[in-house]
Amino acid sequence: MSRDKQAALKEAKWMNSIITGKTALTEEVKKEIVNKTTENFADYINKGFLEHRKSATIAGDFALTEWTGQGSIIRDVMGREFIDALGGFGLYSLGIAHPKVVANVQAQLTRSPQYSQEMLDPVRAQLGRVLAHLTPGKIQYGFFANSGTEAVEGAMKLARLYTGKPGFISMLNSFHGKTAGALSLMGKSVFKEPLLPLLGNIQYAPFGDADAVELELKKAAQVGTGIAAVIAEPVQGEAGAIVPPDDFWPKLRKICDKYGVLLIADEVQTGFGRVGETFAVDAWNTEPDIMCFGKALGGGVVACSGFFSTPEIWSCMEPNPFMHTTTTGGNPIACAAALAGIEVMLEEDTPSQAAEKGTYTLGILNKMKERYPSVLKNIRGKGMLIGMEFSDGDIGYKVAAGLFKRGVLTSGTLNNSKVIRIEPALNIPMNLLDEMLNRLDDTLNELAS
Ligand SMILES: Cc1ncc(COP(=O)(O)O)c(C=O)c1O
Repeated sequence: MSRDKQAALKEAKWMNSIITGKTALTEEVKKEIVNKTTENFADYINKGFLEHRKSATIAGDFALTEWTGQGSIIRDVMGREFIDALGGFGLYSLGIAHPKVVANVQAQLTRSPQYSQEMLDPVRAQLGRVLAHLTPGKIQYGFFANSGTEAVEGAMKLARLYTGKPGFISMLNSFHGKTAGALSLMGKSVFKEPLLPLLGNIQYAPFGDADAVELELKKAAQVGTGIAAVIAEPVQGEAGAIVPPDDFWPKLRKICDKYGVLLIADEVQTGFGRVGETFAVDAWNTEPDIMCFGKALGGGVVACSGFFSTPEIWSCMEPNPFMHTTTTGGNPIACAAALAGIEVMLEEDTPSQAAEKGTYTLGILNKMKERYPSVLKNIRGKGMLIGMEFSDGDIGYKVAAGLFKRGVLTSGTLNNSKVIRIEPALNIPMNLLDEMLNRLDDTLNELAS
């Protein structure tokens, strides 16, 4: 495309004037936004998204173009309303734009949105202290970043620095992000195969099978592959809400101690209440050596992630604190969002809400499974991380599309629509949860008949 500074300025001003505009959008401007967004995706982002998000793009005369949201309701530019049953894949545990989180961010934004990189920044330091109080066991020190995948990269680096060993045991079907290190841990070939070779010295065990993990450690010891850590999601999210047996995490802890390797819990999706406890490992009283956080950490308002560990392990980062750095990670607005998000989590007790609403939702979904056995094959999950498995991807896609038609936003897992996610805000009002389940019932009824 030819370079044109005047065109760049005009186009930037077009959107900026809409962003800062004080009056309601006219019908004409709404249609212009929708049409231009679809065109921009095709011409400047990736045409593939339009094909992939068929259910969103064929929802009406004007493609669904996200515009605003509050709590568990999302509205598109045309004003159509959706109940958010997806929660941004775990990002919106407190709902969209929680007023307390927004207020904290706005106040910090006016004071100082970023930091100088040279002085000590109080908001980040205090978030470190707060997390030390919240996390299990001896976990105390942390490094803040922007995305979950960066948190995993940092955790891998820390484990390697501390142990001096290069290898990892990861789980089949696991998902830890898509940067090179995190992608190397991924327990399935899609997204990896065209990029191989990635990091070496990684072995994979079936999720939930502690004996298989031990076997991998035994084999690694026998052939001399140094293993730094075992890493797993407490409940596998992208794999379709897979809950391990109750003895899995306690056994992992014992095995890691026996073989002298670290245990990393990737709580990017499960952390901060999602599965009914502050952290999912709390459900199994397990104290990991390193924990990764992301998604909901920023209160659903600003990106915030990080990896955290014990004073003993962290000591390897102290001689040179610049071993791992990032310019924008842990910036004041992200940390202000996280601090407000934690306050809301503790005051509204969102982990308990997740536990109660999760049990309630699983009960209703299991009844739907009995009513529509030809369509709905399996229900699983913990707290508000729930997966519905359909007979095939085509049916799953039709369920997602039927829900869209009925004003419910949901999604398959990253790879296919065979499993549809129910991952709403933990504080979703009961009437909206019931309404969402009614619309699901209606969709399944239509597909089964
Ligand atoms: C368990 C887990 N780890 C890491 C990631 C990567 O996080 P991000 O997409 O913020 O990079 C995800 C994202 O879904 C995840 O579920």
